[in-house]
Amino acid sequence: MFVGLDLGTSGLRALLIDENGRPVGSVQSPYQTSHPHVGWSEQDPALWVRACEDVFAQLVSDFAVQLSELEGIGISGHMHGAVLLDENQQILRECILWNDTRSHVQAAELDGISGVRELSGNIVFPGFTAPKLKWVADNEPEIFARTKTVLLPKDYLRFWLTGELRSEMSDAAGTSWLDVGARQWSETLIAASGVDSEMLPALVEGSSPAGSLRSELLTKWGIAGDVVVAGGAADNAAAACGAGILGEGQGFVSLGTSGVILAGRDGYAPKPERAVHTFCHAVPNRWYQMGVTLAATDSLNWLSGLVGQTPKELTDALGVDLSTPTSISFLPYLSGERTPHNDSAIRGAFLGLDIAHSNLDLTQAVLQGVSFSLRESLDALRATGAQMPSLLAMGGGTKSEYWVQMLATTLNTPIDVPEQGDFGAALGAARLAICAATGADAKSVMTSPTIARTITPNKELVAAYDAAYQKFQQIYPAVKAVQ
Ligand code: XUL
Repeated sequence: MFVGLDLGTSGLRALLIDENGRPVGSVQSPYQTSHPHVGWSEQDPALWVRACEDVFAQLVSDFAVQLSELEGIGISGHMHGAVLLDENQQILRECILWNDTRSHVQAAELDGISGVRELSGNIVFPGFTAPKLKWVADNEPEIFARTKTVLLPKDYLRFWLTGELRSEMSDAAGTSWLDVGARQWSETLIAASGVDSEMLPALVEGSSPAGSLRSELLTKWGIAGDVVVAGGAADNAAAACGAGILGEGQGFVSLGTSGVILAGRDGYAPKPERAVHTFCHAVPNRWYQMGVTLAATDSLNWLSGLVGQTPKELTDALGVDLSTPTSISFLPYLSGERTPHNDSAIRGAFLGLDIAHSNLDLTQAVLQGVSFSLRESLDALRATGAQMPSLLAMGGGTKSEYWVQMLATTLNTPIDVPEQGDFGAALGAARLAICAATGADAKSVMTSPTIARTITPNKELVAAYDAAYQKFQQIYPAVKAVQ
């Protein structure tokens, strides 16, 4: 029996799987994010620990699980956050999260240093870890002076589970401290951000063991043997493991709070100038690349809140057959944008509104704007050499048949819809636990899901969507000039 933990932004999910990798049960425990100032986003790591105790208690009560049968745990989590520990390994301040933009000045400074993009393979985004530490040094020098260890969020949870200070390649790749091609900490990058390399934990691969459950927890949970805790993975790398996406030719499109197009890669082919993320995968000698639209279902949720209809009511009203593109353009930059603009200051827009337009037209425009933004990510990924003959559908937004048809037509790429609801990152984390605990080969464990149906591009509408996309691409510079 193996457990995959996914430390999400709004809660911790635990997925229990059996020896054959089949899901047995899944539970969740929510926690809050605090936003003490505009652009700030923080979480108290103590909440994650409480949630972890809660999910294990729920697994026992809801599924009559004997924790004594537990062989391995894998952890995935939201990336880029900074947990700061003092010399006694006590938390010094709340964790600054991935979606916190306070360190945009420090990020721009680091990004401007010659060689930083080349070594790290990425733009230094304001949400990444290195600029956060620079912000702490500049604004909270007394805390920075006491910082002896910096951990990524899921690595703090591992520390609580095992007592070991460890990280792994896929999460470390989002810090701007890792030489992503060489898969090792870079002294040059670490020094550039004013941090001491002693502060960073040792690295393992995500599919390798990174510690064992500590004795207090073994006793508490009634476990006699050893429970291996795997290196684990960053959330998107774990989701790729859960979807069987390890290398070249494989990819997914995810419509979650944010939208992601992810491509598995056999080699390292960074393209920071197109704001594509290039990160290590959670298995050795593999990488992945992704483009991110920050507000995907978030854009639909925003419209839903304004018009007083649920997102499902809004998308259901569009029917199931894709219509011609709407003349309304929507820029989904409600929280800024990553790929391809890397612009945390830009904000969204509706363009071309008519007195006759209704909620239905606005909904279509929102789905279209998000789809076009994802096409920009796909174009940027293709510019790195990534080829994806088809994409796997992931995330809650792909429950809308209409939206998936629109995506397939906009991307001019067939989209495979899996049979069962995806278990996402938690499944990937549990699979990494199997690899770490049993030594099983990643390829044999990370299988692809059964496909319920493939939604192909609507041939009659591909040209019309392409023309509308060309128009969409001209709007960002115009809006940028007047905002
Ligand atoms: C990736 C990213 C998100 C977070 C939160 O760069 O910022 O995927 O990990 O999900």
